[in-house]
Amino acid sequence: MAGIPDGFDAFVAEVDGDRVLRGVRRLAPGDLPPGEVTIRVAWSGVNYKDALATVADGKVARISPLVPGIDIVGTVAASDDPAVVVGEEVVAHGYEIGVSRHGGFAAYARVPAGWVVPLPSGLSARDAAAVGTAGYTAADSVAALEARGLAPGDGPVLVTGASGGVGGVAVRILLARGHETWAMTGKPAAADRLRALGVAGVVGREEAAAGEGRALGPERWAGAVDCVGAATLPYILRTLRRDAAVAASGNASGPALATTVFPFILRGVALLGIDSSQVPIANRRALWGRIAADLRPVGLGDDTTEFGLDGLPDALDAVLAGRAEGRWLVRVGG
Ligand SMILES: NC(=O)c1ccc[n+]([C@@H]2O[C@H](COP(=O)([O-])OP(=O)(O)OC[C@H]3O[C@@H](n4cnc5c(N)ncnc54)[C@H](OP(=O)(O)O)[C@@H]3O)[C@@H](O)[C@H]2O)c1
Repeated sequence: MAGIPDGFDAFVAEVDGDRVLRGVRRLAPGDLPPGEVTIRVAWSGVNYKDALATVADGKVARISPLVPGIDIVGTVAASDDPAVVVGEEVVAHGYEIGVSRHGGFAAYARVPAGWVVPLPSGLSARDAAAVGTAGYTAADSVAALEARGLAPGDGPVLVTGASGGVGGVAVRILLARGHETWAMTGKPAAADRLRALGVAGVVGREEAAAGEGRALGPERWAGAVDCVGAATLPYILRTLRRDAAVAASGNASGPALATTVFPFILRGVALLGIDSSQVPIANRRALWGRIAADLRPVGLGDDTTEFGLDGLPDALDAVLAGRAEGRWLVRVGG
């Protein structure tokens, strides 16, 4: 195919008995899945889901071998669809990418034209990678809270997992929009960086255990963005103010949810589910447009670490161990 080399590097995860083998291999264009648009990948990122896609009990990978990488940012190298032009900078994430078809941890990726988001003006390719699926999910969470009525000045808004991908970008978007933003983190070292960024306060992860087992606690939060799940979501539900909401997107500490119905029936609080993967493409393109404009995080791209495909094994292990900080960017093709 014109413009696409016969061989290129890819980071591959392959099931071998009860292990998953991981490493950089050479792939050919014929190894890519079907689709109208072939992308020369410039950047990907490391998300929690990518780490799960490379371990035996992760329950994310649907094929083997798999090129993980749920984020793809790059330039169109070939297109069979007139709506997507060769040379255009694009983003693609969600749907089956990096799960049941090859993703962004390779120099080339192929996707259906209907999954492609043209890079909005005002965002560089690196900016888009610094946002990635994690930042898109953060933006969707903030948009959902505001659509339900949260406005700057309403009071403290809590972000959990604040040193990680979703949480870190959520903090930056809330600050950009003038919300009184509070961060919950399990990493004492991250607290100073979060304060320097402008958060009103930092609470330790152990705060989530306060009042454990009680149906309701003091009404504290005007809203919350939670990507941690098990340990924190029940705490948030029992400490939200009357009619406030939490946007829940993740399960970094586990999938169980132990709550009572009292926050819902006595305080009218709302649990807003956020799923970034199966968003209709028109909505996805519109939200990316807002990320470049009114939902743009403060200091976008500041809190990033860059490495190549060979840095992935260490990074994926660190994410699973809860050591992620900020957004980790994979420089695939520069
Ligand atoms: N619904 C969606 O569409 C969607 C999209 C993207 C991500 N997610 C989910 O959101 C969650 C976060 O994703 P991410 O990419 O932001 O991950 P990440 O970069 O690894 O950040 C997760 C953060 O959660 C905190 N955490 C609390 N308890 C933890 C534990 N037991 N193990 C590991 N981390 C723990 C840590 O922050 P602190 O140390 O600061 O507490 C960690 O940095 C994941 O469950 C992911 O699958 C969902």
